Amino acid sequence: MAYSIYSPTSIIIWKTLAVSASLLIVIVLLSFSNQPNSLGTDFFHVTTHQSSLPPDTTNVSHLVFGLLGSVKTWHYRKPYIESWWRPNITRGYLYLDRNPTDDLLPWSGDYPPFRISDDNTRLLKETKHVSALMVRMVHAVIEVFREEKEGVRWYIMADDDTIFFVDNLADELSKYDHTKYIYIGCHSECVMSNQIFSYDMGFGGAGLIMSYPLAKMVQKNIEDCFKRYPYLNSADLILMTCVNDFGVSMTVHQGLHQHVST
Ligand SMILES: *[C@@H]1O[C@H](CO)[C@@H](O)[C@H](O)[C@H]1NC(C)=O
Ligand SMILES: *[C@@H]1O[C@H](CO)[C@@H](O)[C@H](O)[C@H]1NC(C)=O
Repeated sequence: MAYSIYSPTSIIIWKTLAVSASLLIVIVLLSFSNQPNSLGTDFFHVTTHQSSLPPDTTNVSHLVFGLLGSVKTWHYRKPYIESWWRPNITRGYLYLDRNPTDDLLPWSGDYPPFRISDDNTRLLKETKHVSALMVRMVHAVIEVFREEKEGVRWYIMADDDTIFFVDNLADELSKYDHTKYIYIGCHSECVMSNQIFSYDMGFGGAGLIMSYPLAKMVQKNIEDCFKRYPYLNSADLILMTCVNDFGVSMTVHQGLHQHVST
């Protein structure tokens, strides 16, 4: 039950006052709207300013998505991305394992622009990493950072079947300081997996989110991480281990959910 310090009667009085005040504002606005240089302009300015968010609040334009897909699965996965991607508004790329086949071309403007993942042959040889696929996935951090830096606050790495509620995501991220080293993820729906990784691992199914400074550090050092941990056979785990090595631990966000259908 909601608790209020006001009695019901005073609530009614306050509500009435609030309603009258808003009516008054509307009337004042209307009466001054034809006189651009009068008090009306200032008044309008002040009211709009007060009711909107601070100008520096994180919004969709500060987020960049690195989405991992493959030519083989794109046909089945694209409805997921189509459901939330906003052409020319959301920023980011879909990373494919190879050139799209003819049936996928011309590439629709409704999808994120695609990129072909870097050729990691040399890196795999040097690091002796066990999984080319996992290296490709984590390497996307380097690739997305290379392309999108301007005004970016958060990098969001996800699979091509992750669904985002973009505005909610921006609202939630606006509560964190994007100038700090922050790594946001969620726990797995599988308790066992969480225990194995000491509840300190973000599971990739729901996206892994890095603040700009963290992503910058990760992309600079990730090749060394592949070298240090050539046996790690999961992209989430490679990223987590690498991030932990920098002394940054995961910030768990309860709004991210991973679901596995088996
Ligand atoms: C997002 O915020 C920036 C300021 O950081 C602003 O210039 C831009 O207009 C905002 N975009 C949207 C869509 O609100
Ligand atoms: C996105 O921008 C491009 C280039 O500015 C334009 O050609 C295209 O029509 C735009 N797409 C949408 C869906 O607005």
